[in-house]
Amino acid sequence: MKTIYIYKKFERFWHWSQAALIIFLALTGFEVHDSFSIFGFEKAVFYHRIAAYLLMILIVFAIFWHFITGEWRQYLPTTKKLKEQIMYYAVGMFKNEDHPTHKTELTKLNPLQRLTYLGFKLFLVPLTIISGILYLVYKTINKNNIVITEGFSLESIAFLHTLGAFLLIVFLIIHVYMTTTGTTPISNIRAMLTGYEEVEEPHKGKEEKKEKK
Ligand code: HEM
Repeated sequence: MKTIYIYKKFERFWHWSQAALIIFLALTGFEVHDSFSIFGFEKAVFYHRIAAYLLMILIVFAIFWHFITGEWRQYLPTTKKLKEQIMYYAVGMFKNEDHPTHKTELTKLNPLQRLTYLGFKLFLVPLTIISGILYLVYKTINKNNIVITEGFSLESIAFLHTLGAFLLIVFLIIHVYMTTTGTTPISNIRAMLTGYEEVEEPHKGKEEKKEKK
């Protein structure tokens, strides 16, 4: 085992504030949707809008950070060891098998995480945010007769936004479960809090050992 510095300060700040904002947006959004009542409708609408602006500001900073630091490369998709990774989550980890991939500072995401997070960043978050912005400006746009929403009914915008919200909640539940599949059940969460993670060093393959003899 060795300790590596895997999540930088901004990355940890961005991760936890994004998580908190998404959970708060889900709470206030589903209150607007009339699923339950916590703050009262008017306040829920107000809080939802404030949190939405904060999330958009945070995401703009996060995009800058990913490009300035080159961290966007971590998300480049690959099929190398993808099947092994899926088999590990489906069967291997229940038989205490070794992880098929090993984290380093430069490859902190396994092939399945790369695909999932890329989908989260390129599809799920944009779906929810773009439909949210259309929802936000719908009346203003109609008042000024700007054609952008022609063909978009408010119902279809609300449907897409609620779909995004449901998918984000499904993502969140699976994501939290998957964080427990690291070296120990809390090692991944501890790493996202402190930045440091103890990782397994790859086992030397039989071939390599034979060569050394
Ligand atoms: C930056 C992103 C977002 C923007 C701009 C946004 C904007 C909006 C707006 C304008 C509404 C209508 C209520 C109102 O006028 O305030 C709304 C409703 C809603 N939002 Fe968001 N939102 C965002 C993110 C989210 C997220 C992350 C979730 C959940 C995870 C969410 C869940 C909901 C739900 C469930 C509704 C009720 C939909 C309905 O029943 O019509 N929103 N959002």
